[in-house]
Order: sequence, then C-alpha cells, then structure tokens
Amino acid sequence: MSAQFPVARPRRLRRSPAMRRMVSGTRLHAADLILPMFVKEGLDEPQPVASMPGVVQHTRDSLRKAAHDAAEAGVGGLILFGIPAVKDARGSAADDPDGVLNRALRDVVAEVGDALVVMADTCLDEFTDNGHCGILTPSGDVDNDATLERYAAIAVAQAEAGSQMVAPSGMMDGQVGVIRAALDGAGHANVPILAYSAKYASAFFGPFRDAAECAPQFGDRSTHQQDPAGPLEEALRELRLDLAEGADAVMVKPALAYLDVISAFRAESDVPVAAYQVSGEYAMVEAAAANGWVDRERMIMESLVAIKRAGADLILTYWATEVARGL
Ligand code: PBG
Repeated sequence: MSAQFPVARPRRLRRSPAMRRMVSGTRLHAADLILPMFVKEGLDEPQPVASMPGVVQHTRDSLRKAAHDAAEAGVGGLILFGIPAVKDARGSAADDPDGVLNRALRDVVAEVGDALVVMADTCLDEFTDNGHCGILTPSGDVDNDATLERYAAIAVAQAEAGSQMVAPSGMMDGQVGVIRAALDGAGHANVPILAYSAKYASAFFGPFRDAAECAPQFGDRSTHQQDPAGPLEEALRELRLDLAEGADAVMVKPALAYLDVISAFRAESDVPVAAYQVSGEYAMVEAAAANGWVDRERMIMESLVAIKRAGADLILTYWATEVARGL
C-alpha cells in the first residue's frame, strides 16, 4: 500500500518485549498490594477454605508465618479478619482485648509490624451469632446508631492491640466520623482510617462468607450495602461523606465489576484509593484455572493491571504474596 501520508503505526511500540516493557503505563508494585487474612480461634491446623482454593483460615502460628512470608515478599499491608469461637448478638469478641482478632493483631504487629502495615477489618459480621454487620432491632433490621457505638469500641480495641490502620466495612451511615472521634478520644489520633466507601451488596462476596463464617442467618445486607444498579452519584456521595468525616484512604469493593467507580473515585479523591479484589473474583479465576479453561497467571496479572489502570493506588488481593514474589 502506498499512502500519501505516513500511515499511523501504533504497532511500532509493540514490536519487542523490551519495547513493550519500556512504554508500559501501568506498573504494579509489591507495596501496592494488601493481603486479606483469616484467623480462627481454637484451630490446631490451618483450615482450607473450600470455595477459595489456596486460602486458609489460620491458626495463631500459621498466621504469623504467613504474615512473615508476605513481608518478605514486599507486600504493602495485611488486613486481618477474625473468627471467634463464641458469637453473640453484640459481637462481644470483637472488642474483647483477648478476642481472636485483637490477639492476632498483637502477634502479627510483633512479628512484622515494622515491615508492612498491619490493619484490621472493623465490622461485626464475623462476631455476631446472626451474621449481620451490626446490632439488630427487634424486627431484625440493622440499627445504624446502636451499631456505630459498637464500631467505635471495636476500632479503639483494635488500635490498642496495635492495629496500624482500621478499615470499617459495615456501611453504616456516619461510621467514619464516629470511629475518628473515638480513636482521637482514646489517644489514637495517629491511626488512619481506610474507609470501605463504595461497597456493593455483591454476589462476589459469596466465598468470603465461608472463609469468615459470617453468612447472614436471615435476610441480606441490601439495606446498608449499595445496590449494584445504583447510580455512580450514589458512590460519589458516599466518597464525599467519608472524606468529610476524616477518611485517610477510601475503598471500592468489589473491584473488577466496578472499574467505573474506581476511576470516578480516583478523579474525585485527594487521598489514596484502594480496590478490593474480593473472594468471588478470586474463586472465579481459580475455578476456571483448575478446569484448565484459562491461563491462571496471566488472568491474575491482567485483572490486577486493569484495577490499577482504572485508578486504584492500592489493591487488596488474596494473591498478594504470590504476585509480590513474581514482580
Ligand atoms: C464485612 C466484609 C465482607 C467482606 C469484607 N469485609 C463481607 C460482606 O460484606 O458480606 C468481603 C470480602 C470478600 O468477599 O473477599 N466484614
């Protein structure tokens, strides 16, 4: 073909691995990755999670070891979830200094707390006997303001246990402000809040409920988590409220199905934006790969790069240690 003007040839920059590497716009770094971990009270052996092959519920010891491995791989942070032996309507184990999560925080901070950021999920669903994220009214609704008091106490207990950041995930109105005030009042003004700001009532959380043993015993979370079909403005409203209440970093969750929300957060937010690649996103890839239907490693990297390109500064992913090792 003889063109009258030079043909545009974007392919020139794709010709070799070195060329592609040099011009790649999206680079993952191990420090961007945050590993979610589960610790269960009373276990003798780590317990595999059936719907998340490769993920376990840890014992106190195996948690320490896995935290050490993550730190050695250069992972940026850990977020811990605890499963207590005894659950009740108030989720009493969540703010008990000797509760499973608070003990685990102390263990892990002692082990790796200088090498990466150790944080706690601040919620009640792992701790309540009904699996809900808060205190219930007699009719079974989640009572927003009664739940806020519990979140405040839990965040303070987590900070006292050494948590270097707290991450409220319950989607109660006002949770960031109440937790900020409680932390400040208890002498923890330096503990930042990573707010789960846009969190959807998502089917992608399915496998997590096995891992954290927190499936609601009745009903669901759609009176507090966002409707997946809700407008983008609703997510932005949650973002603005959390920033006004003092969020130090904000999160979108799940990740891959909500790249538009991540990108809108990046445009609007003046604090770091995190995205949570959740249990169902993990399980989909692992299940398809186990069947030989997809290239597991390429799919993992492609999904992480897409989440980063959409605007996430930080990514919570169950593959954090494995991916960090390969970077
Ligand atoms: C609530 C919480 C959930 C997840 C993180 N924090 C469950 C829920 O809201 O139902 C889900 C994480 C995942 O699916 O990987 N404590």
